[in-house]
Amino acid sequence: MRRYEVFPNHPVSPLQIAEFDPAPLGNTEVAVAIKAVSLNFRDILVTRNTYFANIVDGLVPCSDGAGEVVAVGKDVKGLAVGDRVATLFFPHWYSGKADARALSDARGAESTGAFTERFITDESGLVKLPDSLSYAEAATLPCAAVTAWNSLFEAGDLKPGQTVLLLGTGGVSIFALQFAKAAGAKVIITSSDDAKLERAKALGADHGINYKTHPEWHEEVLRLTGGAGVDVVLEVGGPGTLERSLMSVGVGGRIAYIGVLTGLAGAANPVMLIPKASSIQGIFVGSRAMFADMLDAIAAHGIKPVIDREFPFEEAPAALKHMENGGHFGKIVIRVGD
Ligand SMILES: NC(=O)c1ccc[n+]([C@@H]2O[C@H](COP(=O)([O-])OP(=O)(O)OC[C@H]3O[C@@H](n4cnc5c(N)ncnc54)[C@H](OP(=O)(O)O)[C@@H]3O)[C@@H](O)[C@H]2O)c1
Repeated sequence: MRRYEVFPNHPVSPLQIAEFDPAPLGNTEVAVAIKAVSLNFRDILVTRNTYFANIVDGLVPCSDGAGEVVAVGKDVKGLAVGDRVATLFFPHWYSGKADARALSDARGAESTGAFTERFITDESGLVKLPDSLSYAEAATLPCAAVTAWNSLFEAGDLKPGQTVLLLGTGGVSIFALQFAKAAGAKVIITSSDDAKLERAKALGADHGINYKTHPEWHEEVLRLTGGAGVDVVLEVGGPGTLERSLMSVGVGGRIAYIGVLTGLAGAANPVMLIPKASSIQGIFVGSRAMFADMLDAIAAHGIKPVIDREFPFEEAPAALKHMENGGHFGKIVIRVGD
């Protein structure tokens, strides 16, 4: 069997293919033949060891995988050989609010990830898939899509007719665009690229703002909302964007603070949240229950994950480079085991 392992301090190849023999299956464990993984921006941070968790040499990366169950331990109750499954980002966050246990063991950073031909986990680490999703499509869901779902409908409490602001056209934002439109919300999306804004509009975005040609893009957001600002912001940037998101959010609005595309530091001042009685909340992916609700919505609305490009297993470093270059729209997938 083959898998990828991360060596963050390696000067040339932080991502390496390794041969391995799968461990014997425990009584409550399940073996999955992974068919596809998807990349997240965090996988770049993991290969550089700049992620929140310390990355140990030899870690199997990637939180997001989908595949077929090929063996189950004798006490496994909920899964059987032949089931189609996806990995959970947090194998111990079942439902409700997160506690410290729920947020431990994040796949592909604090625990073994999915970038392997044979993934072995307790059955609690997997979710069953509907037949409507291909393995490549399902592999896009565990991190970016659940994060978008949580930000919009749990933390963001988004209601039909409200307005959402999305930054850029990466994995989280494009899922959020699809979910928000399915829920009857209005979407304003930013991008560095007019062609990407046109693609976002084809997916239903109501307004696009080029943040390169409009560096003060919050002014456009306020203009487009008649000065009122938006109800929900999915803040995936950080320094430079957070300041503008704080100015873009309206009275009673919610900022879901998700990402670090522009860095970890910054000087944003949250004081303007006070007169608007608005709020900001850190988001960390989501629970199994959120994943299940999201799968129901995907099936009900016939939502198809937007895959920018698929790479063969051997070309993972090129796939990571493609993500780093930022030319993608939506998700990047790598096939496994073909
Ligand atoms: N907290 C969590 O649970 C969680 C979960 C998932 C992701 N994240 C974080 O959220 C962020 C986004 O993740 P992702 O997987 O969606 O990343 P991604 O797919 O790599 O998104 C990249 C895109 O972001 C846009 N972007 C880059 N700099 C920008 C800026 N200054 N202003 C606006 N847009 C900008 C660009 O879009 P254009 O090309 O259109 O300009 C770029 O193509 C990352 O920092 C990731 O680590 C956090």
